[in-house]
Amino acid sequence: MTKTLNVGLIGYGFMARAHSNAYRKVNNFFDLEYQPVLKAVCARDAAKLKAFADVWGYESVETDWRKLIERPDIGLVDVCAPNNLHREIALAAARAGKMILTEKPLAMNSQEGAEMVAAVEKARIPNMVWYNYRRIPAVTLAKKLVDEGRLGRIFHYRAVFLQDWTISPELPQGGTALWRLDAAAAGSGVTGDLLAHCIDTAIWLNGGIDRVSAMTETFVKERKHNLTGKVEPVGIDDACAFLARFKNGSLATFESTRYARGHKALYTFEINGEKASIQWNLHDLHRLSYFDHRDESGLRGWRSIHVTDGEHPYMNHWWVPGLQIGYEHSFIHQVADFLDGLAKGQPASPTFRDAQETQKVCDAVLASAKTGSWVEVS
Ligand SMILES: NC(=O)c1ccc[n+]([C@@H]2O[C@H](COP(=O)([O-])OP(=O)(O)OC[C@H]3O[C@@H](n4cnc5c(N)ncnc54)[C@H](O)[C@@H]3O)[C@@H](O)[C@H]2O)c1
Repeated sequence: MTKTLNVGLIGYGFMARAHSNAYRKVNNFFDLEYQPVLKAVCARDAAKLKAFADVWGYESVETDWRKLIERPDIGLVDVCAPNNLHREIALAAARAGKMILTEKPLAMNSQEGAEMVAAVEKARIPNMVWYNYRRIPAVTLAKKLVDEGRLGRIFHYRAVFLQDWTISPELPQGGTALWRLDAAAAGSGVTGDLLAHCIDTAIWLNGGIDRVSAMTETFVKERKHNLTGKVEPVGIDDACAFLARFKNGSLATFESTRYARGHKALYTFEINGEKASIQWNLHDLHRLSYFDHRDESGLRGWRSIHVTDGEHPYMNHWWVPGLQIGYEHSFIHQVADFLDGLAKGQPASPTFRDAQETQKVCDAVLASAKTGSWVEVS
């Protein structure tokens, strides 16, 4: 029998669209006990909000997120708002006993993250953070290969996330669409925005990170602020590169920038093990590259696995073998796993507690960049 789960979603931007699409599609492709209902959506601009609600089929709107949380007909609160709102909304949702899903990064910093973990665990409410790249089938397959021990002892982990949209010094900071350049709304720059994804995947695939040594740079030091109209110092990191040591003894390099001309969203990672290596690339997200040293020597080489077979993770829910899926499906998979976990009474990862590990690494990276020395991840 289907049980309904009333969703109250906060925001109507990029992620609000990705999540709304996921809630609408999930029961068409996954056989689940729970069915999300798009009960209400919240943002401050009433006219734009109404238009968004109409497009996606939300039953009602709220212009104050506090009211949304208080509504007795809302069971799950989903936060698609900028990073500086995650903590306050999560704490209020926990107090109201509502399930909470929040976009990444969990918080502005690990101090806030710790409060959020404590609140949801005290209230015993299901919670999850949208590190959606875990649910791209090729990335989930990478996890399976690592967990099966196919790579053997792991020596190296390498991750890169490159974009090029903030190079112009004329680009303002702050406000709609540009809150990512405003440290007061974002917490940090590429570290919390892009590297947080790389760190989450890395911890998931290769275990905890012990210590880091980082450098950051802010290439454009002042920008006009959209909210004040004044030219103000830029407080975010435009670029970050760091070295890391994992608990399992492997070494890592991580690099991210929004100043890599020509790259729009190039997220790649590579893992080198004693027996095999894997590589993945967001621009070719349905493929996983795999090299196995145990192959017959004359035929050894990198395989490009087209991750579209029914036996590949999640793919038996989609089309026929050979037909690929895309970015938006990672969100559908994440909702499906959350709803499945809800039915079974099992948390879906990453929980707030899991995501807090990434937050701690981000804090250590930013602290190391300030002091120029190695920093232990607390
Ligand atoms: N998982 C991913 O891959 C991914 C990708 C993009 C963004 N994100 C995360 O999602 C979150 C939102 O990012 P986005 O790209 O959707 O941003 P966006 O700018 O497109 O949307 C933000 C939304 O928040 C709303 N908002 C701002 N203040 C509000 C308030 N006080 N009350 C109600 N609504 C408010 C805005 O109206 C807007 O609709 C961020 O935390 C970001 O880091 C994650």
